[in-house]
Amino acid sequence: MTNKNTINSLPLPPGDFGLPIIGESIEFLRDRNFTKKRQEKYGHVFKTHIFGQPTIVAIGADANNYIFTNENKYFTNNWPKSTRELLGAASLSVQVGTEHQKRRKILSQAFQPRALSSYISTVELNTYKYFERWEKLSNFAWYPEIKNYTLDIACKLLVGTESASQSKLGDLYTTWVNGLFSLAINLPWTTFGKAYQSRKLLLQEIENIIQERINSSNSKEDALGLLIQAEDEDGNRLSVEELKDQLLTLIFAGHETLTSAIASFCLLVAQHPQVLAAIRQEQEELGLNMPITLENLKQMTYLEQVLKETLRLVPPVGGAFRKVIETCEFNGYQIPQGWSLLYQIGYTHQDIDIYPQPKQFNPERFNLTSTEDKTKTFSFIPFGGGIRECIGKEFAKLEIKIFAALLLRNYQWELISQQNLDLVMVPTPRPKDGLKVNFQKIL
Ligand code: HEM
Repeated sequence: MTNKNTINSLPLPPGDFGLPIIGESIEFLRDRNFTKKRQEKYGHVFKTHIFGQPTIVAIGADANNYIFTNENKYFTNNWPKSTRELLGAASLSVQVGTEHQKRRKILSQAFQPRALSSYISTVELNTYKYFERWEKLSNFAWYPEIKNYTLDIACKLLVGTESASQSKLGDLYTTWVNGLFSLAINLPWTTFGKAYQSRKLLLQEIENIIQERINSSNSKEDALGLLIQAEDEDGNRLSVEELKDQLLTLIFAGHETLTSAIASFCLLVAQHPQVLAAIRQEQEELGLNMPITLENLKQMTYLEQVLKETLRLVPPVGGAFRKVIETCEFNGYQIPQGWSLLYQIGYTHQDIDIYPQPKQFNPERFNLTSTEDKTKTFSFIPFGGGIRECIGKEFAKLEIKIFAALLLRNYQWELISQQNLDLVMVPTPRPKDGLKVNFQKIL
């Protein structure tokens, strides 16, 4: 339907705006079943009012398809003010339109297969370093440890810093992250104000690192080296100013999500011993000393299935917001310009018509003969889709697979009883008590 008058005469999706001003924000933040309840009542598309905006929630593969294929036409990205200001104007996540596409082309050079291959040794070294630490600790909460592990790898690859989680960079980063989704009031004592100050200091640190690298004759083959050299087709490179914002975005986007994914893998595999045995068997069949290369990782097909099922069942990013830039029509409803739109990853992955018994952890859904997730485009979207699909997708898969393969080859772990394994969902899913485990080397 293209006629503007016809679109304007269409009904709005069903739903309730809730209370004046605050709308349904409190229920949205507090009630884990907010979307489920409304989906049952209104269907796959409904309206609500959250974070000061009339918002349409759209669930399922068809909605995802509509949103991803109309990016920049009907929809654009929509971050809260605090996120936009702390990520910075040049950040890939904040950019829109052709600028976004140009920058994406340059940045994607750090995620090509040759680049990924050169990151393997850094991931392996850090993985062994942390495994040795965890073996010594023996009983500990795994989640915060995994968070340090992924931060160390991201910082080593992106800004060349060793053990960043234990450094000044790590402290500044923590204060900065805390402000990303806060009230954007810039005063010295507010969460946002402190985060803004940390951003300045972080950017200064990053600038020193970039300048040092540019001035040295040592052109290391890490992500920083690649991004300093990367050019678009007209030979333009990223300025130092811009590079700082991009590096900060990549550190953040990469590390929080990966922590959640790795922790979910560790939890789900521990709860499903037959899956654990099958991953280990695959490693044994391939050879426990098989070196980690891109080619060899591709051969770990069962591990790949387990990874997909983990990301289906507990996607680190539950959904994302867009802004409607032109009134359009979806499913017979009017989607008005100026409204917010939220696409849903977690609920898409619970579609019973695509994933029978969707609450069950079953890696067989993704075996080579299964058609689940292939029945409809965009029914499996842990990394989003379209022109804003996750730029770090292949790196994320690489890191999780290396972690998982080396873990299963050499170590065993047990969940400590008497802990709360319920998931806290915001900002990314994590077990309430931090995933307490007993960790040992296989002798
Ligand atoms: C975008 C998920 C790892 C960098 C996204 C989006 C999702 C996502 C769903 C799209 C958001 C939207 O539609 O607005 C994940 C998951 C990861 C992961 C589940 C790990 C399991 C990474 C890594 C990096 C990264 C390792 C970088 C090192 C980015 C960036 C964007 C993005 C920069 C914005 C892309 C754009 O707007 O063009 N990610 N991500 N992510 N991701 Fe990831």
